[in-house]
Amino acid sequence: MSTAKPDQRHRVVTTRSVVNMKKTGEKITALTAYDYLVARLLDQSGIDIILVGDSLGNVVQGHDTTLPVTVDDMIYHAKAVRRGAERALIVVDMPFMSYQTSVDDAVRNCGRVMKEVGVGAVKLEGGAHIAEIVRHLVKIGIPVMGHLGLTPQAINKFGTYEVRATDEAEAGELLNDARVLAEAGVFSLVLEKIPSSLARQVSEAIPVPTIGIGAGPHCDGQVLVVYDMLGVTEEFRPRFVRRYGELAEVMRGAFRQYIGDVKGGSFPAKEESY
Ligand code: KIV
Repeated sequence: MSTAKPDQRHRVVTTRSVVNMKKTGEKITALTAYDYLVARLLDQSGIDIILVGDSLGNVVQGHDTTLPVTVDDMIYHAKAVRRGAERALIVVDMPFMSYQTSVDDAVRNCGRVMKEVGVGAVKLEGGAHIAEIVRHLVKIGIPVMGHLGLTPQAINKFGTYEVRATDEAEAGELLNDARVLAEAGVFSLVLEKIPSSLARQVSEAIPVPTIGIGAGPHCDGQVLVVYDMLGVTEEFRPRFVRRYGELAEVMRGAFRQYIGDVKGGSFPAKEESY
């Protein structure tokens, strides 16, 4: 028998332990990361889930939407995150048009992510219309995190990043989508920017954990984009982002000081030279 073990088996946090956390009532913590250093800091801090979000299209690549992000982009960033984290469950967002087109495309692209990066799960945006895809991925051994509410890949359909499902019809549809996805086998479900009363209803209706972002306190866990909560994305100030730092100001201050030191000739000093 081989003693070699797939890396994911060493992890403290697995899709199974995330599901168990809902049963025990322990809140699930998740933040995004796109590189080795941030992933390492998150892992050392004890985060449960590191999401390699396709939000990297906005915060790393500088696009207006997540639509231009490719599978290769996700694999590149996920590999760096993977090298930085030993403990947390790593979930990789599947980008626009990498899974919506067919079950075959979903298998090929999600399979690439699982094989080439070696992460624990993928995340797909969408409701009942992707249930067949989710069911098949789960059946062949690819755990899936769902994503409902404000799904940024559908921005051209919505036309706005406003809060979703505020009317009865859309709320009912979202609740049904959540039930269908849970039945199809998702191990958890992101709920983005929906009323907290609806998030509570969904969280009570399905056996798998809900992970909220702008969905109030009743979700089984919370996720934020790491640069938002650190205050690096300065202009982005929606009410659901609690700022745990003002790093943009800290970074600018350091950069200005460095520029001043170099221009003024005080850096490098004698003790900083060989
Ligand atoms: O892409 C992302 O970072 C996400 C989170 C905001 C949930 O999907």
